[in-house]
Amino acid sequence: MVTPAQPSPDSETTWRQKLSDVLDMFAFPLRTSHYVELVNPLWSTHQMQAQVVDVWDETKDARTITLRPGVNWRLNRPGQHVRIGIPIEGRHYTRTYTISSPPERNDDCFTITVKIIDGGRVSKHIVRNIKVGDYLPIGLPQGDFYLPDASPIQPLFITAGSGITPAMSMLRSLVAQERLPDTVHIHYAPHEFDVIFSKELRQLAADKAQYHLHEVHTQEFGEQKQTQGYFSQEQLDKLCPDWKERDCYACGPPGLLAALEGVWEQAGLSRRLHIERFLADFAEIPKDAVGGKVRFAQSNLDVDADSETNLLRIAEDAGMNPPHGCRMGICHTCNTKLLSGCVRDLRTGEVLNESGAIVQTCVCAAAGDCELDL
Ligand code: FES
Repeated sequence: MVTPAQPSPDSETTWRQKLSDVLDMFAFPLRTSHYVELVNPLWSTHQMQAQVVDVWDETKDARTITLRPGVNWRLNRPGQHVRIGIPIEGRHYTRTYTISSPPERNDDCFTITVKIIDGGRVSKHIVRNIKVGDYLPIGLPQGDFYLPDASPIQPLFITAGSGITPAMSMLRSLVAQERLPDTVHIHYAPHEFDVIFSKELRQLAADKAQYHLHEVHTQEFGEQKQTQGYFSQEQLDKLCPDWKERDCYACGPPGLLAALEGVWEQAGLSRRLHIERFLADFAEIPKDAVGGKVRFAQSNLDVDADSETNLLRIAEDAGMNPPHGCRMGICHTCNTKLLSGCVRDLRTGEVLNESGAIVQTCVCAAAGDCELDL
């Protein structure tokens, strides 16, 4: 019997693409996807969307949002992050958040867990105002902060605050795969009730003998007069005596990460320390640094700027909506051209003053008057 040839997935994709190209001709100057999006935003192919299907308060200032992504989504690796668009009062903001769920979820959804940061209008909006049913534009999972697939390791997680999110995704994934190895987890939070995912973490520690959780509370509260202090090598030696034999995965504020880098470097073990940053690591700004007048040439706007505030923030505060992604110098979405004047790269302290130089507005500040191609 002759079996009819089955179309290969590749040829199916090609036909779908051809059909879409033909339909796009009729939809010009838009694309078919723009009309499809009106029926169901999750079917959009020109801008991936996700629908909020659940919100859950983890602590008084942190919330987990469950999102159902639309077509073309691909599963995350535990520890990766995703770009999310957030409309607030008619303006469009973009932020990057770590996915806190494991890829093993069986409902085609993923979660992000967001904590309000001081002065953070977007994090505050997400925690306080995002509601079930909202649609948000999203990117694909990205990032290289994840556990190796095959090689057996004994991880040491060191996390603080919302820096727990990538570790949580990794832990959940290891548990779901039933391959949780001997794991030490040191987590810093101001108080017991500030620990995000506290119930799940404590339950995991109770259920799995190989998971050793050490919560370190850093601020006094009520009867608790003695804090357990911030990270030190002495504390590390005590909580995890075999830390030199482990691969360390760390995420938290810049001060903690810098301290970890120092300890691991001194031990000659930097390659065993894997770090995920939420904020760019900034150099000290010289005492005599000055800001200046920033001219946004395309927008025909002049704005006064100090020497510390990044140019992306300066532009947004002036009512502009410049392109951006990670806001920490990684994705280069915010790149623009320096037309004249001086800017300072806040990470290195280097001053750029060559006309035509590429400026990452999220990590550069005015260093005198300057003109940008924005
Ligand atoms: S927004 Fe990503 S590098 Fe500036």
